[in-house]
Amino acid sequence: MSDVLQKIEDAKRDALEALAGACDLGVLEKVRIEFLGTRGRLTELARSLGSLPPAERPAAGQAANRAKAEVAGAHKAALGSLPSKKTGPPALDVTLPGRAPGRGHEHVVGRTMDEICQCFAKLGFSIALGPEVETDYYNFEALNFPADHPARDMQDTLFVGDKLLLRTHTSPVQIRTMEKNRPPVWIVAPGKTYRRDDDVTHSPMFCQVEGLAVDKGITMADLKGVLTAFAADFFSPGTKIRLRPSFFPFTEPSAEVDIACVLCGGRGCRLCKETGWLELLGSGMVDPALYGFVGYDPSEVSGFAFGIGVDRAAMLKYGISNIRHLYEGDLRFLRQF
Ligand code: DAH
Repeated sequence: MSDVLQKIEDAKRDALEALAGACDLGVLEKVRIEFLGTRGRLTELARSLGSLPPAERPAAGQAANRAKAEVAGAHKAALGSLPSKKTGPPALDVTLPGRAPGRGHEHVVGRTMDEICQCFAKLGFSIALGPEVETDYYNFEALNFPADHPARDMQDTLFVGDKLLLRTHTSPVQIRTMEKNRPPVWIVAPGKTYRRDDDVTHSPMFCQVEGLAVDKGITMADLKGVLTAFAADFFSPGTKIRLRPSFFPFTEPSAEVDIACVLCGGRGCRLCKETGWLELLGSGMVDPALYGFVGYDPSEVSGFAFGIGVDRAAMLKYGISNIRHLYEGDLRFLRQF
C-alpha cells in the first residue's frame, strides 16, 4: 500500500475509535474538528493528493472520500445515540442550593415526660420501665386493689385477654422494680397508660410518670420535699404545692397534690375555678401490704410513691385546654413547641 493510502487508513481508524469512546456533544465535536474540520487530518490528506503522481491520484482520491464519508457517517450515528435534550435526564446543576429535608422535633408529650424525669434524675432517682400489656396481678392484685374495685371493671379497663390488660397506670412498675431490687429503691417510671375514657381532659391513651422511693426512715416530709423541689424545677421557682387527703389502694395515707394555679398564682381565676389550686398528681406512703408481695420487711423500710399525669402537666405548663390537641397530630399545633 502506498504511503498516503496507509495514512488515510490510519486517520480513519483513529477517528472511528475516538467516536466510539465519545460520550457527550463536546467530545464528538472535538473529534469532528480533529478529523473532518478545515484543518482536520482527513481534510489535509485529501488536499495533499494534488502533489501525487497523476496515476496514483484517482485511487487515493476515492480512498480519501470513502474514509471521510465513513467517519462523517459514524459521527452522525454517534450524535444520534447521545441522549437528546428532550428525552434525556434533566441536566443536574450541582451549584444550586439543595432542598433542606423537613426536620421534625420531639412531641410536646414526649418532651414533657423527659423534662419530668430530668427533674427527678437531678434528685437521685433512676429510670425504670415496664410493659404496656400487663397482667391483672401487677396492675391490680399486688397493688392491693380489692377484688370488687371498680377499676377492675370492663367499663374502665381495656382487657386483651383473661387476666391480661393494657395497664391503666404506671404503678405496676413499682411492684416489678421492688421484685427485682432490694431497698433502697429510688425510681421514676415514665410510659403510656390506657383507659376506657375519652373527653376534653381524658384520652384513651395517656402518659404517666410513676415515682417510688423505698429506703430506711422515709417519711411523708420526704414526699413533700421531693414534690416541692419538682414543682419549682418543672413549673417555676417558688411554685407552691399542697397535699389533700385522698385514697389509693396502694398508699396509706394517700394525698392528692395540687400546685398553686399557674395562671393566677393562687388568687383565683377561670382555670383554677376560683380555688387558686390545680390538681397535679396522686401520691402517698407505700401501703405496707405491698411489701408482702415483694418480700420487703415493713419494719425495716418505708417509702412514698406518686403518679404524675404527663398530659395534664403539659397542659398546665403550656396552657393547653383540650387534651385532643396532644394526640391529633395537627402540625399547626405541634410546631408551636
Ligand atoms: N396510679 C394512680 C392513677 O393512675 C396514680 C397514683 C396515685 C400513683 C398515688 C401513685 C400514688 O404512685 O402513690 O390514678
